[in-house]
Amino acid sequence: MSYPFEPYKIKVLDSIKILSESDRVQILKSAAYNLFKVPSEKITVDLLTDSGTSALSQEQLAQMMLGDESYASAKSWERFETAVKNFTGKKEVIPVHQGRAAEKIIAEILLEKNDIAFSNSFFDTTRANFEHRGAVCLDVPTEKSADLLRPKLFKGDVDTKKLKKLLSRYKKRAKIILMTLTNNTGGGQPASLKNINSAAAIASKTNLTFIIDACRIAENAYFIWLHEQKKKGNIKQIIRNLFALTDIAYMSAKKDGLANSGGFIVTNDKILAAKLRELAVLYEGFITYGGMAGREMETIARGLEEVVSPAYLEHRIGQIAYLHTELAKIGVPLIHPPGGHAVYVDAGKFFSHIPRNEFPGQALVVALYREGGIRSVEIGSLMLDKASKSELVRLAIPRRTCTQSHFDYVVEIFKKILVNKKQYKGFKIAWQPSTLRHFTCKLKLTEKKFR
Ligand code: F0G
Repeated sequence: MSYPFEPYKIKVLDSIKILSESDRVQILKSAAYNLFKVPSEKITVDLLTDSGTSALSQEQLAQMMLGDESYASAKSWERFETAVKNFTGKKEVIPVHQGRAAEKIIAEILLEKNDIAFSNSFFDTTRANFEHRGAVCLDVPTEKSADLLRPKLFKGDVDTKKLKKLLSRYKKRAKIILMTLTNNTGGGQPASLKNINSAAAIASKTNLTFIIDACRIAENAYFIWLHEQKKKGNIKQIIRNLFALTDIAYMSAKKDGLANSGGFIVTNDKILAAKLRELAVLYEGFITYGGMAGREMETIARGLEEVVSPAYLEHRIGQIAYLHTELAKIGVPLIHPPGGHAVYVDAGKFFSHIPRNEFPGQALVVALYREGGIRSVEIGSLMLDKASKSELVRLAIPRRTCTQSHFDYVVEIFKKILVNKKQYKGFKIAWQPSTLRHFTCKLKLTEKKFR
């Protein structure tokens, strides 16, 4: 498979250290087999997340120099606000320091105890913030998303039939319909314009607030442009059409903002915006910076222009499809079809000899680091405990950061693991905190040797 070459040249380097296998074995031991604890300088290819890890363009770096760090009404705020209005088509912009800050503020304004919010799938920080208010979060993905291996388009859709049924059952308690674009928890799969339109229409008919979590909206819009609109129209307009459907939308700029941090909430509702701003001042900072430095707002202002470039998106989605195709070719079980931002391995199938309670996903994460210094993340029983439906490992691709050789290297390491995969063993938890255990827990091997 081939994909368009990088639509940029490399000008600044961040060198990669390549360690020996015995070094990596030692590092794993001292990190108690938890990759979050491995220093980043000991990583060869870091596929932990696509969040905040994008390379900046020379234009972004140049614009950072224009950062106005005045506390209130800085020039950088004006540029940021104009860029966000241009990107979203919305009239009111509330800046925040990252996505979950937006979720916290929105939850506090819109949700009370026992209220119900519905989604194609809530990302974990969204769910945590909504549940923190005492609300109930119900994922309503379509049947087609349940079959991980079947390559159906738009597996990020919400099940509108089921949604209607649930709404008539929970009439009084229902408050929000939220579309996560793309659906990170469900494998980075996009939702179709048709489906998002239907979800918005249901929300409007039943007087619910319709929200889009827009952190990867450019990637989602690219899939709509490619498959639904058959390359007609333009991606920037699709994005604006999606925002136009919402009562509120928010975006972690760490993803499709092509920035290292930051975010925003948008709406056209002045009264709602005033309420959101009151909390934003309390939690984030003054309403013209929301916890961001002026230079950061400059980065995002420029990033929102760059992310809608068809050349950028074609290459970006092509990269993910490339890694996906090459891994599928050698027999790695994956979520199909390739989506945006990451490739998801079905580690339950890959390491079928390791039972769920011995964390096959984490065993693969550890194997990838041991054999090749690759950092990935488990999204399975270790992260989600009993709520986990499958044992996945996410290989998230940072934006504008890797080349094809990095992916070929990842494929080589998978080949090495595949040769004798039964030799890899599972893990037990040696220590865990009371919540979000995957970040800090310590693990130990179920057998003396892990291969
Ligand atoms: N919504 C989605 C769909 C996300 O993927 C994330 C973050 C957030 C909200 C929260 O944004 O990190 O700026 O507070 N996802 C990262 C990831 C952490 O690795 O997928 P944030």
